[in-house]
Amino acid sequence: MTKILVTGGAGYIGSHTVVALLEQGLTPILFDNFSNSQEAVLSRIEKITGVSPQLIEGDIKDGEKLNEVFVEHEFDAVIHFAGLKAVGESVEEPLRYYQNNVYGSLQLFRTMAKHGCFRLVFSSSASVYGEPESVPITEHFPLSAANPYGQTKLMIENILRDLSAADARWQASILRYFNPVGAHKSALIGENPNGIPNNLVPYIAQVAIGKLSRLSVFGGDYDTIDGTGVRDYIHVVDLADAHLKALDALDDGHGCCAYNVGTGEGYSVLEIIAAFERACGAKIPYDIVARRSGDVASSFADPIFSEQKLGWKARFGLNEMMRDHWQWQSANLEGYK
Ligand code: NAD
Ligand code: WQD
Repeated sequence: MTKILVTGGAGYIGSHTVVALLEQGLTPILFDNFSNSQEAVLSRIEKITGVSPQLIEGDIKDGEKLNEVFVEHEFDAVIHFAGLKAVGESVEEPLRYYQNNVYGSLQLFRTMAKHGCFRLVFSSSASVYGEPESVPITEHFPLSAANPYGQTKLMIENILRDLSAADARWQASILRYFNPVGAHKSALIGENPNGIPNNLVPYIAQVAIGKLSRLSVFGGDYDTIDGTGVRDYIHVVDLADAHLKALDALDDGHGCCAYNVGTGEGYSVLEIIAAFERACGAKIPYDIVARRSGDVASSFADPIFSEQKLGWKARFGLNEMMRDHWQWQSANLEGYK
């Protein structure tokens, strides 16, 4: 029985990855403090897979609690999703972000080492590329961060690089996600943002169900195909699959290695609106307003390294991403409630 500790396993990407792990016959043990998720996700996972995974309520900042978990279970590896992720909030509350994401990760890595577990898959972000000098972005681009959230990801990446340089037992796959969207095809699990969504597709989805009245498109004068921002949207089920491949890659003995997780295709905000309109069969009212501070014009991945090294490639295209996001949103108007 291969046991995998999944921190943040009740969250959006975590829950989809837990489904993928269970479908592979692995045993995920979820560890989550529910700061941005609900316990109800467990019964949804059970409906999809027929298995109710074990979930431990706890905080990664709590070293004692983590220690108890590692005493009770012997883990083959850890997939580390737990973290706060709202860019704007991180600018307003940097201490909370550094404390939760960086200190919490240190507690986790310390506990792993103490119990002889050195295999990790870490959720990083394309935000570590700051303002890229060109697109597509390869893993060799210079790293920087434009906000405290991005800084926490960069710091954790650096900690992992230092750990594996100091001790060859550390094997870490760092996954730099581009823009995760979509939901499981069952429409039983999906993204459930607290309050008004910060990200484009969840916002559009709430306009489509009438919860929000109009979308503000941030900037119409970028040097892009139609003046609006271009991003690399990746289906969350493809993203979950990348974690299985990243776990396998830990056996290569590569030490610490970072991989882009994107499709390699960039779509503008207006292209996303049009695709969502096709999926939901209704118009999404919008206004083009000023640029959002900190946004870059264009960001999309060069996914070749991930394809070569992980044997991973995105399968789902834009229409499937929007279809599945819409199916989840329209079937769950109030999320998991
Ligand atoms: P999410 O908020 O849905 O999931 C994160 C989970 O971690 C939540 O269930 C939350 O309750 C839990 N958590 C947070 N702090 C914790 C703590 N101290 N102890 C225990 N549990 C804690 O977010 P997500 O979209 O699933 O993102 C997962 C990871 O991927 C995060 O680290 C995020 O920064 C990273 N990431 C997300 C995106 C994105 O756009 N969704 C993009 C790039 C990277
Ligand atoms: C996408 C595009 C906006 C909302 C963020 C984080 C990144 C990662 C993913 C965690 C941009 C435009 C958006 C709206 C809009 N998260 N937009 N109106 O900014 O690429 O990335 O989420 O790691 O770190 O920075 O994603 O979905 O917010 O924006 O016009 O109401 O949509 O300007 O061009 P972003 P996003």
